[in-house]
Amino acid sequence: MRRLSITLFSLCLASALTAQTTGSNQSVRLRADNIDEVVSAMTLEEKVHLVIGCGMSMGSDTKFPGTAGRTYDIPRLGIPSAYLADGPHRLAMAAKREFDSRTYHATEFPSSTTVAATFNPDAAHKVGRTLGMEVKDYGLDVLLAPGVNLMRNVLCGRNHEYYSEDPVLAGKMAAAYINGVQSRGTGTCLKHFAVNNQETNRNNNDSRLTQRPLRELYLKCFEIAVKESQPWSVMTAYNKVNGKYTCEDRELTEDILRDEWGFKGLVMSDWNAGKDAVTSIVAGNDMLQPGQDRQYKAILEAVENGTLDLALLDRSVKRVLEFVVKSHTFAGYEYPNKTDLEAHAQVDREIGAEGIVLLDNKQALPMAAGIKKVALYGTTSYDMVPAGMGFGSTGIGYYTVSMVEGLRNAGYIVDKELLNCYKKHMADEQKRLFPHGKPPFAFTPLPRAEEFLPTAEELAAQVKANDIAVLTLGRVSGEGCDRRVEDFLLKENELALIKQVSAAYRAAGKKLVVVLNICSPVETASWKGLADAVVCAFQPGQEVGNCITDILTGKVNPSGKLPMTFAVKYGDAPSDANFPFDYEFKMPSFAMGTGMNFKSEKKEEKPKEPEKNVDFTNYEEGIYVGYRYFDTFGKEVSYPFGHGLSYTAFDYAVENAKMDADRCELKVSVKNIGKVAGREAVQLYVKAPNGGLDKPAKELKAFGKTALLQPGESQTLILTWNVMDMASFNEKNSSWELAKGEYQWMVAASSADVRCTAVQRVTKARKQKVHDAMRAQVPVAVYPMVKR
Ligand code: BGC
Repeated sequence: MRRLSITLFSLCLASALTAQTTGSNQSVRLRADNIDEVVSAMTLEEKVHLVIGCGMSMGSDTKFPGTAGRTYDIPRLGIPSAYLADGPHRLAMAAKREFDSRTYHATEFPSSTTVAATFNPDAAHKVGRTLGMEVKDYGLDVLLAPGVNLMRNVLCGRNHEYYSEDPVLAGKMAAAYINGVQSRGTGTCLKHFAVNNQETNRNNNDSRLTQRPLRELYLKCFEIAVKESQPWSVMTAYNKVNGKYTCEDRELTEDILRDEWGFKGLVMSDWNAGKDAVTSIVAGNDMLQPGQDRQYKAILEAVENGTLDLALLDRSVKRVLEFVVKSHTFAGYEYPNKTDLEAHAQVDREIGAEGIVLLDNKQALPMAAGIKKVALYGTTSYDMVPAGMGFGSTGIGYYTVSMVEGLRNAGYIVDKELLNCYKKHMADEQKRLFPHGKPPFAFTPLPRAEEFLPTAEELAAQVKANDIAVLTLGRVSGEGCDRRVEDFLLKENELALIKQVSAAYRAAGKKLVVVLNICSPVETASWKGLADAVVCAFQPGQEVGNCITDILTGKVNPSGKLPMTFAVKYGDAPSDANFPFDYEFKMPSFAMGTGMNFKSEKKEEKPKEPEKNVDFTNYEEGIYVGYRYFDTFGKEVSYPFGHGLSYTAFDYAVENAKMDADRCELKVSVKNIGKVAGREAVQLYVKAPNGGLDKPAKELKAFGKTALLQPGESQTLILTWNVMDMASFNEKNSSWELAKGEYQWMVAASSADVRCTAVQRVTKARKQKVHDAMRAQVPVAVYPMVKR
């Protein structure tokens, strides 16, 4: 069972019947322009039902089996359900239905991390509009995506569902994805609002942080997405922030999201989040999903006994109706119930390849024309990781293209003997790991096969028989639990395999390419020198083997860049100590406030004192997340944020830089000075002047990507951002403050590779006051600020 099923069907039915006899206006039917009238025609019971869901749509008796849920329907008033299903990388719905011979497959698109690595909002838009079509084709209304939480720590189990460690990259990619989905008339739900950066004890963990990192990082990505795309809805998170559940925090939803940012849509809770239904409604968290009996009773009683103002309930009811009238279902859309899976697979292949990052290349790639025979190492080459785990991925995959298939599709010969060794090894491993058979669905990552080490003779024969070695390492993670440090590190036999293969192939003058098919970074510093090329593919979706092959062969020239830093070791980032890196799971932490036991034995042994990093997590690193830390403190990294190589090279030249009252604009000409066609993602960082608040060494403010440039061809990219985007948040007076002085606008190929700089002067300091909201309730020590 994926979760405790709390259905309200019987209750819904009984109440609908009551409503028919008590409703004040039998003839009113919902239209987009009569919502107030419909609200007045509703009984109190109907109103309460409308602000909570109808249970999970898991069973075979539901319209869309395997989906997340729906809104309550009131047929007498012409109010249908709006149907909700998870994303972000696939429409999460069961592929098979009872007594139905057809299949309802959904495309596995690249993970959000892979999409972010394209540094191309058009790519995010394309994935979004294709997914939006798939949702529409199958008759559903809203995709519960994207997730825009920051990658605060490399071990967060849901990082693959998120975009970046940087709020500008995350916010802009999310906005483009939302605009893409919504261009099909399909709704989105931006999640998980906010500061939801770990899975351990996710229903109860308290993220404790000061207002500056809250505003500049953790809210900023949501702010950008909301302002640049107006998602239909926002989902609050499971966790608390500074002592309050996010779904019960009026300052978060009403003051910041609606009042400051102008959000006009619906706010819904995460599934079974929070404790107090009435407080949630007061906070402007309009819909509680998937809905529980106790929530229904609590809201009804509170209105009846006067502790909940009916006007507040009506406010939420109205927002739910505004959401429903936008849906395909409300419009009576006659969906074909099938989708263009072939065309969508092509989108996956294209964007999946665009998100692949070439980390290192010692003239090993693209594979030379003479290379025909490939020796494939690593169990992952034969069992690729198209996507992460969790509700975003129901586990019923459509298909996954392996490396074997990808290379064969491109005309390469994959070493058959080696393949047979792996087949046997994998079968043995399956028996060892799953003596009772592999479970069809797993909520948390299943154990993966141990590596297979060839003997010296076998290896010698393989080197002789092949032209190149490709070795794939895999990592998968998912919702409900975080990764462990061991998952960041390479296993002993993975390292041994790299060492052996590298030595043997190099001795014969042949190359080793290491492919990382991973959810989130792994340790690379200790072994990368042994590889002739390192390719980070993240999780490119169902076409994974084809996407990687397109890069290896040069059919696609790599243009991805890292949306996060690859640290040398765990412990280097200042958040590392304040993360449950050593927490021992006995059960996934998805209790969802239902009383289900989700604590580890370690926790149960000493339940008295709140446990650091489990019951609460202190964000002591403040604003120094990712490259903001590594750059400012001069700490060595394995691969910097924004890094990614190409098979060609580019020259940058600033054409013009200007700043008016509100906007900044920089024109940069990018020229392909190499021998093959390619695309370049350009990054614009700003270094603020001394004085005013302390600042990181540089911060990303804009980015852009060229079209495919032929050798010798140039393109001018126009990068724009707001003047106040260069401001910092002053906690003393809840203001965004822009210091006067010289700002360096750095045009860069990565956070560590600045190509040219333009200097602009702000002559007058500026201040913009906002709500003094979500203050830390207990002191949080903040990482030493740098005086520059
Ligand atoms: C996840 C959400 C998801 C919801 C509905 C929750 O467990 O945190 O991201 O949208 O379930 O499936």
